[in-house]
Amino acid sequence: MVNPNEIGPIEIGEKDRLFVLTGAGVSAESGLPTFRDNGGLWNGYRVEDVATPEAWYEDAEQVWRFYAMRRRDGLAAKPNAAHQALARLEERLGDRLYLCTQNVDDLHERAGSKRVVHMHGELFRSRCERECGRGDFFDEGIYTSADAIPRCACGGRIRPHIVWFGEMPLYMDDIYAELERCTMLLVAGSSGSVHPAAGFVQFARRRGVRTFYVGPEAPLNASQFTERVMATAGEALSRLFP
Ligand code: APR
Repeated sequence: MVNPNEIGPIEIGEKDRLFVLTGAGVSAESGLPTFRDNGGLWNGYRVEDVATPEAWYEDAEQVWRFYAMRRRDGLAAKPNAAHQALARLEERLGDRLYLCTQNVDDLHERAGSKRVVHMHGELFRSRCERECGRGDFFDEGIYTSADAIPRCACGGRIRPHIVWFGEMPLYMDDIYAELERCTMLLVAGSSGSVHPAAGFVQFARRRGVRTFYVGPEAPLNASQFTERVMATAGEALSRLFP
């Protein structure tokens, strides 16, 4: 465990490829609730009611009310020092930085990150509930009643472009290809509760890659990290990647 006060910049060599996975903790300092901390989203809502395909087919209005609240919060939030540090890092490393996020907010992009892999979908994108082929699209709409839910040209209802529990995360082939070739991996702000993201560190460890964790509490997969920096992401990432 690294003493947060002894954090120095991480040396990244010319040949290094850094895989970064961020979780809800990276947006906590922007005022967005995490999922499993006290007062987190799953303290106030049941996953089964708002974040599963079954919830959608049972009560689409309730699902949209949950995402309407998250869209309102997301629009009001501002990127924090953690997002800014990672945007600077992308400028420095170019495509030797692979930024994968479990977060659906757009704070990485609003901090300047150009290549963000949203494996759990995106809050400000929607799509037809039928796989009618029209794909996902940008949408900041706030829908709080069943009759406000827009319809696709094919007649299907428009749903959030979010990966719900029981659905396949996005870009997994691309993610594993990068996990096969990265030389360093850093996870910031994720409790390690949800797979497959929680298993990325083990995949990297098996390849003998240096693995860092940044967050104020030990995650469930803490033993998989070669170095753990027990500090907030805003504070630590600014010092690890000045
Ligand atoms: N800086 C860094 N980490 C922080 C901060 C902070 N300022 N504040 C809290 N954390 C840490 C917490 O200690 C916790 O380990 O962020 C983590 C948040 O964990 P979760 O709430 O479980 O969020 P996450 O790991 O991103 O959840 C993964 O679960 O519900 C699904 O799809 C949802 O993408 C989400 C996935």
